[in-house]
Parts: sequence; C-alpha cells; structure tokens
Amino acid sequence: MREKLEQIRLEAVQALEKLNSLNELEDFRVRFLGKKGELTLLLREMGSLPADERPVMGRIANEIRAFLENELETKTAVLKEAELRQKLESEAIDVTVPGKRPAAGKLHPLTTVLNELKDIFLGMGFEVAEGPEVEYDYYNFEALNIPKNHPARDVQDTFYINDNILLRTHTSPVQVRVMESQKPPIKIIVPGRVYRSDEVDATHSPIFHQIEGLVVDKGITMGDLKGVLDVFAKALFGPETRTKFRPHHFPFTEPSAEVDVSCAICHGAGCRVCSYTGWIEILGAGMVHPKVLQYAGIDPEEYSGFAFGMGLDRIANIKYGIDDIRLLFENDIRFLKQF
Ligand code: DAH
Repeated sequence: MREKLEQIRLEAVQALEKLNSLNELEDFRVRFLGKKGELTLLLREMGSLPADERPVMGRIANEIRAFLENELETKTAVLKEAELRQKLESEAIDVTVPGKRPAAGKLHPLTTVLNELKDIFLGMGFEVAEGPEVEYDYYNFEALNIPKNHPARDVQDTFYINDNILLRTHTSPVQVRVMESQKPPIKIIVPGRVYRSDEVDATHSPIFHQIEGLVVDKGITMGDLKGVLDVFAKALFGPETRTKFRPHHFPFTEPSAEVDVSCAICHGAGCRVCSYTGWIEILGAGMVHPKVLQYAGIDPEEYSGFAFGMGLDRIANIKYGIDDIRLLFENDIRFLKQF
C-alpha cells in the first residue's frame, strides 16, 4: 500500500509539471482525485488493511490528497491569471488610434440647384405647385393650344400610354391645372420630372427636370416678365449677369421669347461653355396665350399673365460646369461627392 501511494505521489508530481491549461488541470483532477481517481480508489482499499496499518496509511494518503489539492489550487490560479492577461492583451483597444470618419450623405446637385431656385422665387412671392407626371393629352397639349396635328405631339417625342394619356413632356400642363382650380392672382413655380422619347447622349435624357413659372393677374405685362427673369438670373448667376430676350414661338404664349444670360464663366468674352457666343440660352417664356387662359376658364379681357419654363438639369450643368447630363442620373458616388 505504501508503495502504491508513493507511486501515485511520484506520478502526480511528474504530471503536475506538464500541466499547461485549465483543461489539462481538470483532467489531472479527475485522474487522481475524481470519484474514480487513482487516489480515491486506493483509499477505498484501506478497509482491507490490518487495523494497525490503517491510521498510518490514512495519514499518508490524506497528506498526498492535501498536497495535490493545494498544488491544483495554486496552478489553477496561475493559469487563470495567464489566461486573463492574454485575453486582455488580445482585446486591447488603442484609444490613441485616429477614428474612422463616418461617410456623410450629401444633397444631389439637382436638389441643391432646385433649392436655390425655389429660394429665389419664394423670395419674390411665388408659391410652389405640383402636378401629375402621368398626364392627360388634354392638359399636356390641347389646353396649351397645341392642337391634334401639331408636330410637338409626334409619337417620336412623346411616351403615350394610350390615346388620351401620356407621360408629360413638360411642366406646362400644371399651368392649366392651377388656373382651373385657383382664381387670380396666381404666382407659382412648378418643379418636376418630365419625359421625352429622346436618344440618350451628353445633352439628352428620356427623363429630365423642368421648372415652370406662371403669373396671372390684372395688368400683367411683358415688363413684369423681364423684371422677374432679370432678378432671377442675377440671383442665380451673380449680380453682373445680363439677360437677353430673343423672339421665338411657343403655341401657349404670345408673344414668346427665348431668354439668354451672359455667360457666367467668361462674362461675355466667349468660351467653351457658351460656344464662344458670350450667351447661354436658359429658358423659354412669353405672355400666356389668350386661348390658354380661356381653356382654363379665365377671361383674357380681364386678366393677363406671363409664363416661363426652364430645364433644371441644364441650369445645374451650367452652374457646376458639368458637360454631360448623364452624370446627373448615373449617381456615381465619386461624381456626386464633388458637390
Ligand atoms: N414647355 C416648354 C418646353 O418644354 C418651355 C416653356 C416655354 C414653358 C415657354 C413656358 C413658356 O411656360 O412660356 O420646351
């Protein structure tokens, strides 16, 4: 018995030295001190010893057990400490490392320009109106004095849904809708998306944006139109900006004009942006045609009005020096980030 005990003690001491992890420690405990452990089993045999040997063997066995338990406790503490230190090291955060800047969103250049235009016109007392993008032929053409055989109705330019319904080709139909539902004085701008069956290239897109303007009241003249557009152009492109009205034709205005602004880049000297003319065409305008007033139920003898319409994409491109309209729709984040 004594030899067996010594044997266990020896093996245990050797095994102890090799213990490297908490798992191994547990295996060790089970091997020697567990219910079926070597020492425990040996202690059970104690009963079969002669009575005088029992106390001696019992003392030795208990010494060994106490010794092993003590060693186990110490080793456990050491290994736990090491494990904790390793964990802390691997999870350490260097608070002095510079942070990652979160990517912040930005407004699309079209939105920025639209906000700017709204600001300018709201400052002159205009209100913002809207209308449907899926529109009746009646509002898009008929009530704007564009009769059935007019070339502007060509199916090549217009997305028809059926004979009576189409995707609006301009924001002008909202003029009629507002005049039908509202008594003068009317002073609105109408921003919105419009559609034309155009081949995509640097200056054409099947979807683009317009802003319409409409003022109807007693005694409105071409002078009011010129004044409003001149203030607008100076506010948008700078105080030195000049405007030029060129006679033109639109079915829904009479007289009609196309309006140029002096080139904001070269101030009239001539450059690539203005094709070396010193002027950039930005909108169409005119006095609301009496027939259009009539269609909308407003007496042209009593009231007169002016209207204008411009392409928002074009204005944004001029303002930001963008030379391809497709860039506004591709939404490449690298492009948009620049504004
Ligand atoms: N609707 C015209 C277009 O899409 C633009 C326009 C011209 C609007 C003259 C107007 C206007 O209100 O008076 O080309």
